[in-house]
Order: sequence, then structure tokens, then C-alpha cells
Amino acid sequence: MDIARIRAQFPALDHGVAHFDGPGGSQTPRRVADAVAATLTAGLANRGTVTEAERRAEAVTLGARAAMADLLGADPGGIVFGRSMTQITFDVARTFAQAWGPGDEVVVTRLDHDANIRPWVIAAERAGATVRWLDFDPATAELGDVGTVLSDRTRMVAVTAASNLFGTRPDVPAIARAAHDAGALVYVDAVHLAAHSPVDMAELGADLLACSPYKFFGPHLGALAASPALLETLRPDKLLPSSDAVPERFELGTLPYEMLAGVTAAVDFIADLASSDPDRRTRVTESMTAVEEHEDRLLQRLLEELGALEGVRLHGSPARRTPTVLFDVDGHTGREVYEHLATRGVNAPASHFYAIEASRHAGLGDAGAVRAGIAPYTCDEDVNRLVSAVSELLSSGS
Ligand SMILES: Cc1ncc(COP(=O)(O)O)c(C=O)c1O
Repeated sequence: MDIARIRAQFPALDHGVAHFDGPGGSQTPRRVADAVAATLTAGLANRGTVTEAERRAEAVTLGARAAMADLLGADPGGIVFGRSMTQITFDVARTFAQAWGPGDEVVVTRLDHDANIRPWVIAAERAGATVRWLDFDPATAELGDVGTVLSDRTRMVAVTAASNLFGTRPDVPAIARAAHDAGALVYVDAVHLAAHSPVDMAELGADLLACSPYKFFGPHLGALAASPALLETLRPDKLLPSSDAVPERFELGTLPYEMLAGVTAAVDFIADLASSDPDRRTRVTESMTAVEEHEDRLLQRLLEELGALEGVRLHGSPARRTPTVLFDVDGHTGREVYEHLATRGVNAPASHFYAIEASRHAGLGDAGAVRAGIAPYTCDEDVNRLVSAVSELLSSGS
């Protein structure tokens, strides 16, 4: 990957800040912003076939479904867009729960972001179903054995493909196999993973997979991928005159067409990062493989150099992980570290980052810790700055 060429496409990086806050939302390439603005100003109406403005909305919508399908190895006819992954997951959980009752079981994990926990817990409680919790080892941040929480009454297993707190990448294909053997469906939160790795729904064994384009260079919205056949079996709440077709059945109100144009531009941006294959799905996979290699090299540097500083405590040591590092500095609250780093032009916030169950289970309470997330635009100089700002704090003794 040509990092200088990639960085030049992000106007926000001109400000000179080292952005380790990517897990909260990536920076945006000019191409994505231009696509949003161009769609808004080109002449736009509701989807239709009569006027050019209607046809543009139609093309933008179908284009974004095709782009997300290429990103995730999914069927474009099963791509649902929504306000956020959180909103989509609440809606989907409520819809599945129509068929649940006492005795049915739902599995959630303590490693997950709350957006893949609370919607299932609330839906299960309302339906009288039982929630079974899969724990993780607080020292390593590795998930336990899903077999211990499965039964022939398990209806759904909700699991993250990567923890936004520790970076843990659970063995989702193995979890999905066990869940399917028990007769359950699998809902995968790929919000954090999709920014760091190629994603293939079939390989993961996901029946439904959710992600958020704003984590991978796109606009702020959420997307769900599932097979159209599965979506056909579900009856979400909807307005009487709105389309009952799949996937429109799940999309409440008018879609944000300009943002959808941004989604397509983001996927095209990813596809072009490190490949020139004629097929976009192949380009995406090759480019995300290159991203993974680049980020992994910087991750190893960061782990070694932060780990070598006396007084830095790294949290979690998962065997397979995204380039997401959670740490504390002795003698300072996470908030103090976060604020000190900000004065040095290094953005790395401290929080539980909504993985509140994970933060509590790891003994970090509701304060969480400092998170440094590496992104495709992160460079060696960014890592140097982060490490030297932390070591400066340690040597100041204040
Ligand atoms: C792993 C993970 N899942 C879910 C979410 C929620 O996504 P959204 O903001 O689209 O609701 C986030 C956001 O930080 C996340 O990191």
C-alpha cells in the first residue's frame, strides 16, 4: 500500500493530527464527500422510473446495495440500510422476537458492543425468552466455549466478529457451526471487523451481519446483510403504503440517497486501495488483505513499544486481533492520558466505548481505558508520536 498516496486523499489529515480514534469512526476521503455532495445537488427525487431525478435515486440505492454486497460477500437483494447498526439491530431483534416465547433462548456475549447485546436482551425479556451469556477471559479477552450456552431451544446467537474494545477476533465460523448444529441463527456484529479485514458472510457462517459504513470511510449510517430468503420470513413493523418487498420492507421512511452514494464511493475507495483487478469484490478482498498486513505491522510496533514502557498496562492479549490497543498509564486516569495526548496532536480517547459489559467484566468499570486504533491511513510517524507522548507523560511524573 502506498500510504502517502492514501493519506493525501483525506483532507482531515492535513491538520496534522494523528488519528487513533478510527474505531469510533474513520476519517473521510474527499471522494466520498464529493459523491455525497454531487448526489444532493444533481437533481434528486424519491425512487422511481419516470423522471431523471427519480431514476437517480433508484440507481444510487441499487448501487449502494451492490457495493455493500461486494464488500461483505453478500446478496445485494438482502442489503438493508438504516440509521445506524444500533437502530437496525433493535428493529431486527424486535422482529425475530415475535416468534419467541418462554423456554426459547438467546445467546449474547459479554465481549460485544452493547448494540449487539441490549436489543437482544430487551427483545428476549419482552417475549419471556431466556438470555444466556457467553463470557470471556478477563486476562486475555478471549471468548469462552459457546457450547456451554447452547441448547436445542437456542433461537439466536449474537456475536461480534471483532471487539471494539480489545480487538479480539473470536472464531466466528466455529461459533456459527455450533449454533447452526443447535438449530439457532447467527447475528454477527461486523462493525469493527469490516474496517480492518476482508469480510465474507458465508465464510463467517453469519445468517445476518451488521456493519456501519462510517467506520470504513463512509457516511454515518448502518447496513445489514442477510439472505433475501431469510428476510422474506420476517414481518417487521411498517407503514401500510410502504413497499413490502425485501429488502425495502425493513427500511423505514425515505432512504438517505446522498449517504448511499457515499457508501458506494467508500467501497470503491477501499477496492482501489491496493488492487486493480477488474472485479470489485476481488479488488476489495485484495485491498483489505493489504490493509490487514499494513495495520498488523504497525500493531506489532505499537504493542512492543508501548509494552516496553514501564508503567503502561496493556489490556487483553487475544491471539487473533484487529489493530486496536487498550491501555492504561500508571498514576493517571484514562481521561488524563486522553487529554494529554490531545495536547500533543494525538487523538486516542478513553472510555468503555459502549462495550460496557466487556469493560466491567475486565475490571475496568465504567471508565474503561485509553484506546488506540490503527487505520489504513495510520503511518509510522503517528505511532512514533503516540509512543513518545505516552513516555513523556510517564517521565513527567505528574
Ligand atoms: C463493534 C461495534 N458494534 C456496534 C457499534 C454501533 O454502531 P452504530 O453507531 O452504527 O450504531 C459500534 C460503534 O462504535 C461498534 O464499534
